[in-house]
Amino acid sequence: MFARQSLFQKNNLFIFLSAALMLLSFSCSQKKPVSVVWLDELGAEPAIEGWGESQANKSVDGNPLTIAGQSFERGLGTHAEGRYRIKLDGKAKSFHALVGVDDEIKKTQQGAERASVEFIVSATDKKNNKKIIWKSGVMKAGEPAREVNVELKGFVYLDLIVSDAGDGMPYDHADWCEAKIEYLGMKPEAVKPYVSKPYILTPPAPPEPRINGPKVFGVRPGSPFLFTIPATGERPMTFEAEGLPAGLKLDGSTGQITGVVDKPGTYLVKLIARNRLGTAERTLRLEVGDKICLTPPMGWNSWNCWGCSVTAENVRQSARAMVEKGLINYGWTYINIDDCWHGKRDPKTGEIRSNEKFPDMKALADYVHSLGLKIGLYTDCGPKTCAGYEGSEGHEEQDIMTYAKWGYDYVKIDWCYCEGKDPRVAYKKFGDAIKKAPRDIVFSICNWGRENPWEWGESVGGNLWRTTGDITDTWVSMSRIGFGQAGLSKYAGPGHWNDPDMLVVGKVGWGPDLRPTRLTPDEQYTHISLWCLLAAPLLIGCPIEQMDDFTLGLLTNVEVLEVDQDPLGRQADRVAEGENYQVWAKEMEDGSRAVGLFNLDPYDHMKIRVNFSDLGLGSGSYRVRDLWRQKDLGTFSKYFEAEVAPHGVVLIRIFP
Ligand code: GLA
Repeated sequence: MFARQSLFQKNNLFIFLSAALMLLSFSCSQKKPVSVVWLDELGAEPAIEGWGESQANKSVDGNPLTIAGQSFERGLGTHAEGRYRIKLDGKAKSFHALVGVDDEIKKTQQGAERASVEFIVSATDKKNNKKIIWKSGVMKAGEPAREVNVELKGFVYLDLIVSDAGDGMPYDHADWCEAKIEYLGMKPEAVKPYVSKPYILTPPAPPEPRINGPKVFGVRPGSPFLFTIPATGERPMTFEAEGLPAGLKLDGSTGQITGVVDKPGTYLVKLIARNRLGTAERTLRLEVGDKICLTPPMGWNSWNCWGCSVTAENVRQSARAMVEKGLINYGWTYINIDDCWHGKRDPKTGEIRSNEKFPDMKALADYVHSLGLKIGLYTDCGPKTCAGYEGSEGHEEQDIMTYAKWGYDYVKIDWCYCEGKDPRVAYKKFGDAIKKAPRDIVFSICNWGRENPWEWGESVGGNLWRTTGDITDTWVSMSRIGFGQAGLSKYAGPGHWNDPDMLVVGKVGWGPDLRPTRLTPDEQYTHISLWCLLAAPLLIGCPIEQMDDFTLGLLTNVEVLEVDQDPLGRQADRVAEGENYQVWAKEMEDGSRAVGLFNLDPYDHMKIRVNFSDLGLGSGSYRVRDLWRQKDLGTFSKYFEAEVAPHGVVLIRIFP
């Protein structure tokens, strides 16, 4: 009886306990059911992409998401190089998606052949360890979607990455379809890339006179000479020059040196600038010989702002503003008209004429020269320019002579409608004509790096050559071009420069409607710092009359510009790199090193170090100066380390 009762009681207890347990687990699962958030719900806006704009539930071109004929309702259409960061709390369960190249690129044969991407899923744990948890392998157009299914427990960040699979970005339209996260705790959140407010680092120019700009200048004997002494400081200012070669004269109130030198040689000219607060002096080395463009050209070009809508009035306005905003006082010189100025040829003589937007090319050149600036224009080695205007094919020498007659100082020659030609032969025709021209014309080869122009550009008379396709105002475009210059330093030097394309700061638009550059303030500091380290031609791509103070600060820092204009003419090399950072350095004429510490991470600040041994500097201590802030940071031995903002830079100079 006792035993039976006890058994009965035991049974009851068992039933009771099981019921309680079931209730408990039910109530627990009631509190924490698995939730789902779809990637498209987190939004397309925080996505970083290499081209176009990522879209929720659509391809990057705005079509239904489609991979190998299969359509998907949900997901994110993006483009390599792509990044998307999601914040988790360690309690997310899993990530799932179907990924592949979007069918939309199969519209063209090129697209079908060239698209290739790799999808990478990386995650960061609480201790900040990052690891790749899934990779698709290289995926090409037409391949069926591959499935990602990964556990997320313990991770606090999830990074969805689309790489170009190592063969460049064109046509890399990439889809994350049916992408979703299952989670228990906090709802996953998209992380926006870091963007600071614009901040100006360049200190204002002192009121006392200071002579800036290049320290060396080349001219050919017999060519018209124009050099405006670039000097900041309170006006009125007067100028003197001692040791000018015969044939040159200085206008003491404008600082413009003009004339013609017949005798080749090296002349050391002492430039002097005075105002009521003091006097500045500086030596200019004048090289009268067959080389020009001894420092990278600095100026303005109409393309990145006005595109094909450019008019003579736009050109005049930028020229005037170059003077009024004081950029001329820092060595900014060229005012270059890009595509869309050509008219029809004279039917009898074949001479090129301008179109109605440019009523008088010579008057425009005279106006720009009267400001103490120089002027350039654009043509194409094919029958037509890229925008479909009259090209120079068959008229190479005739056109150069016409430009010289009008008074142009710079010509950029494009490569549209030239496929199939040998660029060495095509460009040499212009180079030979330029040699014969009665004035100095800077020769800019623009064949987008086809057939390695750095190897033959100088031999055909080129002063600079584009190394890549066109830049646009995104981090991916600017950074790929800039950091992609690694290995080209040996081809740069006085008179011949690698050209990573024009600047995308200020207002851009490639047409009548302008907008502020999409580069963040830190990305713009990176852009200018990197271009200066690269001894790149600096061509401002925004209307100067509309330039704001932030952009003006970027372009008027004497210590930064000095890195670009250093007479030694070295281009920086990459001296160290890690997963998300790079260090670039170049030697300056005085033996110091200009060094850029670049943070390539879009989200996080980072400490970046440069070891002096990587710069060829021995043991000992070195003075380190912050170039943007124009401030000494102290003396350091062995290494220097600084915290760098996401996509930002610390630019320093290390003095032995
Ligand atoms: C090409 C060049 C650009 C610009 C345009 C003009 O794309 O690379 O820099 O000159 O043509 O049409």
